[in-house]
Amino acid sequence: MKISKRLKEVKESPTLAITARAKEMRQKGEDVVSFGAGEPDFDTPAPIKSAAIKAIESGFTKYTPSSGIPELKKAVSEKFQRDNGLVYEPGQIIVSCGAKHSLYNIFQVICDEGDEVIIPSPYWVSYIEMVRLAGGVPVIAKTEQKDEFKLKKDRLKEVITDRTVAFVLNSPSNPTGSVYSRSELEGIAEVLINKKVAVISDEIYEKLIYDGERHISFASLGKEAYDLTFVVNGVSKTYAMTGWRIGYLAAPSRELSSAIGRLQDHSTSNPTSFAQKAALEAVKGDQGCVEKMVSEFRTRRDYMVQKVNEIKGISCVNPKGAFYVFCDISGTKMGSFEFAKRLLDEAKVAVIPGEPFGWDTHIRLSFATGIEDIKKGLGRIAEWVKGL
Ligand SMILES: Cc1ncc(COP(=O)(O)O)c(C=O)c1O
Repeated sequence: MKISKRLKEVKESPTLAITARAKEMRQKGEDVVSFGAGEPDFDTPAPIKSAAIKAIESGFTKYTPSSGIPELKKAVSEKFQRDNGLVYEPGQIIVSCGAKHSLYNIFQVICDEGDEVIIPSPYWVSYIEMVRLAGGVPVIAKTEQKDEFKLKKDRLKEVITDRTVAFVLNSPSNPTGSVYSRSELEGIAEVLINKKVAVISDEIYEKLIYDGERHISFASLGKEAYDLTFVVNGVSKTYAMTGWRIGYLAAPSRELSSAIGRLQDHSTSNPTSFAQKAALEAVKGDQGCVEKMVSEFRTRRDYMVQKVNEIKGISCVNPKGAFYVFCDISGTKMGSFEFAKRLLDEAKVAVIPGEPFGWDTHIRLSFATGIEDIKKGLGRIAEWVKGL
């Protein structure tokens, strides 16, 4: 049977491919250390699990309104007000099956064939494929390492055209961990507002932030920014709930949220009923679990950054958020795929090549793995690089 042209062009996720290979090697009994994880290694906090169990036991197992249960939409709207100073009525909120689903929905709703979407590089790999699946054209705006991989206003001006419909912002970023400051966001906002370009602000790593940095939501910069912005967030990374598949978005108007709602009505319907109850507990409940996780991540990040920068031929910028270290491997004279493949084969350490993120001179290491594994894995990388 034929496969549609659209799907033929969609690439396999490189993150999933490497982690799957590392897992396979482990299953064969090989002692592999993996820095590939894109999810917290912590368990989902007990009160969140209990909320789901209670929901199942009480029979909360049927269809719900397809854009989410009213109490969760209300809690999300309160979260936006509390954490980001943003006012959204519950009707502007759509709960979906993960932030990925929210992003997919947005591109489907705002892109027509040939519309351009600007994506700063390095980028999270799925943006490119999602834009293509919506008929759009991803336009890559390369950043500089010396700017901590953050896009400058002048670079943005160079890539905007009359066909630009949207700009993707991801702060804190996967794969770089960069966090935009208010003044950096204001610089970008000036250009986007002037050209009336929509902003898709992926804030999934909002809470995983270090060194006293503050997350600023793009939509909170003012009314003009608000009117152009879709804010995307979710419970996956903040509450170690990647498998539960609950994300959400806030649209700047009821017209846009209803369009997304219609898409969801005819595609997935509601996200899992009892997972929504768990997400409700996550968003409304005690936030102590987040503080604990962030504190552990910070310790691991400090260790990783120090050790990486001690290895000759490799270096990294200190990430201010998320749980990734984006390492420059250009000193080894290898491309990122060759580096990752040889490292896995020869030293049994899995890392993610930077090429699929738009940077072949880099690899991504995740510190969402225990400190003992981090020590062991970095020790192996140091030895292996020394022997090259
Ligand atoms: C930047 C970014 N956005 C969105 C997602 C997807 O999150 P979710 O698991 O809620 O779909 C990820 C997951 O890796 C991510 O790194």
